[in-house]
Amino acid sequence: MGLEWIPGEVKQLYPADAPLAAHCRRVAALAAEIAFRASFPPGGTALLRQAALLHHFPPLLLDAGALRRLLPDVLPRAGTAAPELASAAPLIPEDLAAVLQILHCRFNGSADPLLRKVAAVLQLSDMLDEQMQLLAYEDSPPDGIWAGLEEISEFTLFDRKLVQDARRALTAGGSALPGAAADLAVEGRTARKVFSLLAFHRDCEIREMEKLATSDPVLAGRLIQVANSALYSPGQRIASVRQAITYVGSDKTRKVMLAAALEPVFSRGGMRQVWKHSLRAAQLSEALARATGIMDAEEALLLGLVHDIGRQQTQRAPANQPSICARLLKGGCPLTYVERFLFQRDHGEVGAEVLKTWEFPEHLIEAVRFHHRPEASEAVHAAVVYLIEFWTGGEEDLPSLTRLGSALARTGVSGETLMAIAPPRGSLYELLGAA
Ligand SMILES: [Fe+2]
Ligand SMILES: [Fe+2]
Ligand SMILES: [Fe+2]
Repeated sequence: MGLEWIPGEVKQLYPADAPLAAHCRRVAALAAEIAFRASFPPGGTALLRQAALLHHFPPLLLDAGALRRLLPDVLPRAGTAAPELASAAPLIPEDLAAVLQILHCRFNGSADPLLRKVAAVLQLSDMLDEQMQLLAYEDSPPDGIWAGLEEISEFTLFDRKLVQDARRALTAGGSALPGAAADLAVEGRTARKVFSLLAFHRDCEIREMEKLATSDPVLAGRLIQVANSALYSPGQRIASVRQAITYVGSDKTRKVMLAAALEPVFSRGGMRQVWKHSLRAAQLSEALARATGIMDAEEALLLGLVHDIGRQQTQRAPANQPSICARLLKGGCPLTYVERFLFQRDHGEVGAEVLKTWEFPEHLIEAVRFHHRPEASEAVHAAVVYLIEFWTGGEEDLPSLTRLGSALARTGVSGETLMAIAPPRGSLYELLGAA
């Protein structure tokens, strides 16, 4: 693959990654779901998994006998080693070799229907993953993929029925989002109030902050807790909101209140890690904005806090597909990939809808909507969030050197600058993340 144009520093940013091995893992995860739905016998499922993990390594198809026949042609002197090879055990089990031969050569002497079915599911899963990789750059929902696969099924190992079964298996029969909007409305009530007063009207006076904080016990408690924390270590224990605001300062108070107001939205099971990730993202995006002047630092902080708000809905264990979601994630499929299968859109798009109801400014809504597809947005903000996602190591989408390179170019941030970004002491993560 021609990646020469990508600056060296971008390559360094990426952890050692084996895209082909990652593809094989995803294919194995998809194939397992389809096999589960198709009630494969246990032996068939195990064989399918092995074949999926090895399907890009055709040299394994060679068995000892084939090597014996080939070596004298390739290396005339190698004939002496051939007898040993002839008696050696095959390099891979016969069934596995047969499946890979059917997949790659469309022919194998074996007429075993199970082996043919395993090869058919493997080919379908392989094509599905390739299509999903392309879809990550497009604006269309994955529905079209299924229709396309049905259309080509007369030329493939799989038939129309297998495509339909796979679709049922991988979409769990529907695209309804699990998190009820009503729940979010209740959990987000305080956030909405705080954002509208503090985020979008920055000349808010201490008196107004105090009024807002005392109207919500969680906010008040968090402020007092921060003021009494080891980081501030007051001489005397602080017991009132007013004292806390005066002691901590109005700038830090605003940040703590913005974050604390959002915390209840991430309070449900399984969301604690997302909350910590959001705090980290907030502090890093603010630091990046301050270091580069690329966008308003306050807005960057806010974007970091809310960028994954959509995960509150997509990651909340769906009633009808909890296990599919977990199995695909465990099998190496990134979060946005799984979301597109199950809900036809990713958490960025879902989050944008939430922020719309919270009356966020349009450019911040757009940044959240496209934070996993920054090239789709005209503005720079989505690219900033994409870089922060990358830098916090959330692994929420398919790794892409091309996309990373383009986000860096778009923002004018160098790889070195991004790597050097560090949050200041007393950051939100320190204040709230560990609590
Ligand atoms: Fe493949
Ligand atoms: Fe995200
Ligand atoms: Fe994220």
